[in-house]
Amino acid sequence: MILIIGGSGFLGYYLHHGLIASGEKIISTYYKNRIEEENFCYLNITNTKSTIKLIQKIQPDIIIYASGITDVDLCEKNKKLARAINVDGIKNVIDGAKNYGSKIIYISTSAVFDGSKRFYLETDKTNPISYYGKTKLDGEKVVINSGLPNMIIRTDQPYGWKKNWHHTNSVLRTMTTLEQGKNFEEISDWYNTPTYVEDFVKATIRLIDKEQTGFFHVVGTDYDNRFNFSKKVCDAFGFKQDKIQKINSKDLKLPAKRVNVKLVSKKIASFNITMLSFSKGLEKMKMVVS
Ligand SMILES: NC(=O)c1ccc[n+]([C@@H]2O[C@H](COP(=O)([O-])OP(=O)(O)OC[C@H]3O[C@@H](n4cnc5c(N)ncnc54)[C@H](OP(=O)(O)O)[C@@H]3O)[C@@H](O)[C@H]2O)c1
Repeated sequence: MILIIGGSGFLGYYLHHGLIASGEKIISTYYKNRIEEENFCYLNITNTKSTIKLIQKIQPDIIIYASGITDVDLCEKNKKLARAINVDGIKNVIDGAKNYGSKIIYISTSAVFDGSKRFYLETDKTNPISYYGKTKLDGEKVVINSGLPNMIIRTDQPYGWKKNWHHTNSVLRTMTTLEQGKNFEEISDWYNTPTYVEDFVKATIRLIDKEQTGFFHVVGTDYDNRFNFSKKVCDAFGFKQDKIQKINSKDLKLPAKRVNVKLVSKKIASFNITMLSFSKGLEKMKMVVS
């Protein structure tokens, strides 16, 4: 049995359905976004007693921690909330899981690195700059030091179709703005390695099947700036590229400092996992619609 904490979230929901399709028995939790589907239940991860009780009831072999406060500016402004979910939440899970020896899978981020290197492998030294990155690194450490079998999967900029309650992503933001006939302003000094969500799920399932432990970077194969990625979205979905306007992140005066981090997914190649380029990911998205 696999328990997904944060199964209502963007990654969690795709993981839930991907794992069911691969034949696993899954229970997932939601918090504010009630999911009216079988095998979903409510959990507030800040409530230690209920978290322990739920794990006691399910006695999962694996717990995937896909909960999180992912809004990096919100984390900077509300440090207490960021820590409560990204760090203390996983502590509660581990308190519950210790009695059953469940394996813990923690979904993490490129923001644990400082961007000073050209690219980052799993073995590279962490040094988060934003508060979001700091809490995610602390969450990773809680898992590593738990004494439970574990896997940390770091990803970047997951994109794909979303349910109406999910936060948006850079691909859908571009498309929605252009569909409304507006120009789209996109940042040209933020670089990412966007990851097609279905690809992320496939890779995660394979790593679970192969009973892997340790750190894994699971990202798409392209590293570029958001402005260039938006132009590719135009090409894929038939919008005119001249609707995209270049802006600099400095002009937005955002609370959290971002760093440009290129994660590299070399390690997963040994499990025959190949990740898609951005253009191929967009093609897959188009196939899902048609
Ligand atoms: N999205 C990204 O760009 C990105 C990039 C790299 C890594 N990650 C990591 O991947 C993980 C999942 O990201 P995501 O984009 O799928 O996040 P998301 O869509 O924002 O989902 C967050 C999940 O956390 C749950 N949650 C929030 N507060 C909770 C609480 N008090 N108790 C229990 N559950 C709570 C939410 O439940 P409700 O929605 O029901 O309230 C939701 O299921 C995060 O840990 C994030 O750090 C994300």
